[in-house]
Formats: sequence, structure tokens, C-alpha cells
Amino acid sequence: MLDILMNISVEKMESIDMPETQHLFLVRYIFCSHNTSSATMEWAMAELLRNPKTLLKADQAELEQVIGKGKLVEESDIARLPYLQAIIKETFRIHPTIPFLLPWKAETNIEIGGYIIPKGARVLINFWAISRDPITWDNPNLFMPERFLGLDNQIDVTGKNFELIPFGGGRRICPGLPLAVRMLHLMLGSLINCFDWKLEDGVVPETMNMEDKFSLTLQMAQPLRAVPKKL
Ligand code: HEM
Repeated sequence: MLDILMNISVEKMESIDMPETQHLFLVRYIFCSHNTSSATMEWAMAELLRNPKTLLKADQAELEQVIGKGKLVEESDIARLPYLQAIIKETFRIHPTIPFLLPWKAETNIEIGGYIIPKGARVLINFWAISRDPITWDNPNLFMPERFLGLDNQIDVTGKNFELIPFGGGRRICPGLPLAVRMLHLMLGSLINCFDWKLEDGVVPETMNMEDKFSLTLQMAQPLRAVPKKL
């Protein structure tokens, strides 16, 4: 994208609207890609350190068996790591980094589910509430990757299952989805398979601060501090 814009700027600088372009990069690319991916990684690590049994299951019962302890996860491994996949989905569910997705505007009057959305109305989708709805999810406030295991639970995040839409859906679904999903599996899987992790001195799973704060994305209010030990 940057490459294309630089070429245009060499050939026809006047056709580039600078404030618009800066806005595009800041909001769309920095906010949409970097903040979301790093916050999701941090939440996933925090949940694993707070739930040592889940970490052990991912580490010893899956990664060690499937790819071998101490190895980096590769793209071709992901399909063979259902528990790691379930951990990532559960992190998307319980810690949506864009809790209201991006704002939409109705192009025309439209009726959805018995409600009239008038033309021009701003529409916010409360994914945070959807992903904690007790009608859809058992124990919605608990981090339980197991809910995504088994044939009955083949819910994915590609916008087909409206109960789990961390990337939105439809024509404006996040274009970074394939990259983000791959990177999260590779990074999280490699981090737990190549290191032993400890919480900082004095912090135990029971006293971890899991509060969130809303800035551009939903981040940990107190950043996670964990110590890796090489195997
Ligand atoms: C965990 C990681 C990510 C999450 C949770 C996420 C989530 C989202 C969501 C919810 C939207 C709005 C979709 C809608 O309105 O329905 C969006 C839009 C967008 N995302 Fe992502 N995203 C992630 C990673 C990325 C990455 C890695 C990139 C780029 C490499 C990216 C680029 C974009 C762009 C450009 C848009 C705006 C699309 C438009 O203008 O319609 N995202 N993302």
C-alpha cells in the first residue's frame, strides 16, 4: 500500500490528499493492525498465566506431542493444534479488542429484527455484549477454551457465526483477518513452546489484575509483566 502511494507521489503528487492519507495510515493501518494484534497477544498470554492448567494442557498435551518441545510453530502446524486454536478463539471472545467493531452508517431506512434503523443513523455493533451473552455462552465470564473443542463447536471467526465476530463480517470484514489469525497462532504457540513463563515476583495467578481500559482498543489496564526462561 505504502509502495503504491509512494509511486503515485513521485508521478502525481497533487492527486494525493495528505491529511486524508495520514488519517488512512494512522487509523486504518496502525490502529487496525498493530494495536489489535498486540493487545490480543497480551490478553492470551495473561489468560494462560492466570490459568496454569490451560497453559499446561496447551504446552504438554498438545504442542509437545504434536511438534516437539522447544520448536517454533510453523504455519503448516496450525491445523494440527486444535487446543491452541481454541485458546485464540476464547481470547477473541472474552477480550474483544474492538468491542464495538467500527462505526457504520445506514445508507437507507432499513428494518432489522423488528427495529427500524433510519437512513443516516450511526450503527455500533456491541460485540462485547454478544460475546458475553449468557443465552449463547455457558459461564460467559470464564476463560474456557474447551467450549470451542469438538464437532459441535466448530464456530470460527470469519464472520459466518454471528456469536463470534471479532473481525466484523460481510463486505467490510477486517481485511487483515488471515494475517492476524496466522500470526497469533505462530507467536502464541512459539512463545509457550520455546520458553517457560513465570509471573513477576510477588504476583500469583489469583492476584493478577485483569481489568481492561479503553483507549483505541480494549487493552489490559495494567500491562502484563512475565519472565521467560529458556528451556
Ligand atoms: C487481532 C487482530 C485484529 C482484529 C481483532 C481486527 C478487527 C477488526 C475489526 C472489528 C474491523 C472492523 C470490521 C467491521 O467494521 O465490520 C477491522 C477493520 C480493519 N482491519 Fe482489522 N483486526 C485485526 C488485525 C488487522 C491486521 C493485522 C490488519 C492489517 C494488516 C488489519 C487491517 C484492517 C483494516 C485496513 C480495516 C478497515 C477495513 C475497512 O475500511 O473497511 N486488521 N479490523
